[in-house]
Amino acid sequence: MTTDTTTNSPVTVLGLGSMGSALAAALLKAGHPTTVWNRSPGKADDLVAAGAVRAASVTDAIKASPLVIACLLDYPVVEELLAPAADALTGRDLVNLTNGTPDQARALAARLDARGAWYVDGGIMAIPRLIGTPEGFILYSGSRETFDRARPALDRLGGAHYLGGDAGLASLYDLALLSAMYGMASGVRHAITMVGEERAAEFGSAYLAPWLQAMAAPIGQGAAEDEEASPLGMQAVGMSNIVEASRGEGVPNVLLSHLLIAMQDIVDAGHDDLLPPLIDQIRKAG
Ligand SMILES: NC(=O)c1ccc[n+]([C@@H]2O[C@H](COP(=O)([O-])OP(=O)(O)OC[C@H]3O[C@@H](n4cnc5c(N)ncnc54)[C@H](OP(=O)(O)O)[C@@H]3O)[C@@H](O)[C@H]2O)c1
Repeated sequence: MTTDTTTNSPVTVLGLGSMGSALAAALLKAGHPTTVWNRSPGKADDLVAAGAVRAASVTDAIKASPLVIACLLDYPVVEELLAPAADALTGRDLVNLTNGTPDQARALAARLDARGAWYVDGGIMAIPRLIGTPEGFILYSGSRETFDRARPALDRLGGAHYLGGDAGLASLYDLALLSAMYGMASGVRHAITMVGEERAAEFGSAYLAPWLQAMAAPIGQGAAEDEEASPLGMQAVGMSNIVEASRGEGVPNVLLSHLLIAMQDIVDAGHDDLLPPLIDQIRKAG
C-alpha cells in the first residue's frame, strides 16, 4: 500500500465517531493528506498525531479538500452542519456515509445539486475494524462522476460497489441488508435462549455458526434443488415443532409464531414455494 502523500489527493472527513475515525485512519494510512473535523475536537487527537490536520470549523474542513466524506450520527446532523457551509461545498464532491433512508439521501442530493455540489450517498457494510480490509464493503449511488473521481480514495476504505445514479439506492440496499442481519440476529438469540446460556459458547461455535454459513451459501443462487429437497409442508411441520419445543423450554415465540402462521396459510393455499406468497403477504400486511 502506497504512503506517497504527493500523489494521493486530499480528503476531508467530517465526523470522528467510531466509524468516522476508522475511515480517516484508513485514508491517512494509505497516504491521503487528510483533514478532519469533529464536534468534540479531542477525538481528532490520535489522528492529528498520525499526520491529519484538524480543521477549526466545518467550512474550513470542506475548503481543505476537493473530496469531503461525511460520517455522522444521522441526516438531521448532516443537514445542520452543512447548511452554514453551503458556499464552500460548491464544486466539491461530497460522499455521505451516514446511515439514513432513501428519501433522505434523494432530498440531500437534490439540495446539493442546486448548490452546485456533487453528491454520492453510501452505505457502509462493515464495522470499524473491518474498514480498509477485504471483509468490509461499501455501497454507493448518486453522481457517477463523483464516484469515479473519488474512487482511488474510496478503494482505501473497502470494496467499493456503485449501484447507479439514484442517490437513494445505496441506502435502500444498506437497510435491506441490515434487516436481513437483524432477522438473523433475532433467530440466533432465540436459538441460544432455547438451548440455555450455559451451552451458548459451544453451541455457537460448534453448531450455530457452521449451520448458518451452510444455509447462507445458496442465497441468491436460485436453489431450486434445495427447495425440492425441503418441501414447504415439511418445513411448516418443523416450524410448528420449533414453536412447541420453545414453549416447552419457556421461550416465548414472539417472532417465529408469525412466520409459522404465514407458512401454514401458504401451505393451506396449496403453494409449494414459500418466498413469492410470503413477499405478497408482507406487502399486504403493510
Ligand atoms: N459503528 C459502526 O459499526 C457502523 C457501521 C456501519 C455504518 N455506521 C454508520 O456510520 C455513522 C456514524 O456512526 P458511528 O459509529 O461513528 O457513530 P458514533 O460513534 O455515535 O459517532 C457519531 C458522530 O456524529 C457526531 N454527532 C452527533 N450528533 C451531533 C451533532 N448534533 N452535531 C455535530 N456532530 C454530531 C458525533 O460527534 P461527537 O463525537 O462530538 O459526539 C460523532 O462524530 C452512522 O450513520 C452509522 O449508522 C456505523
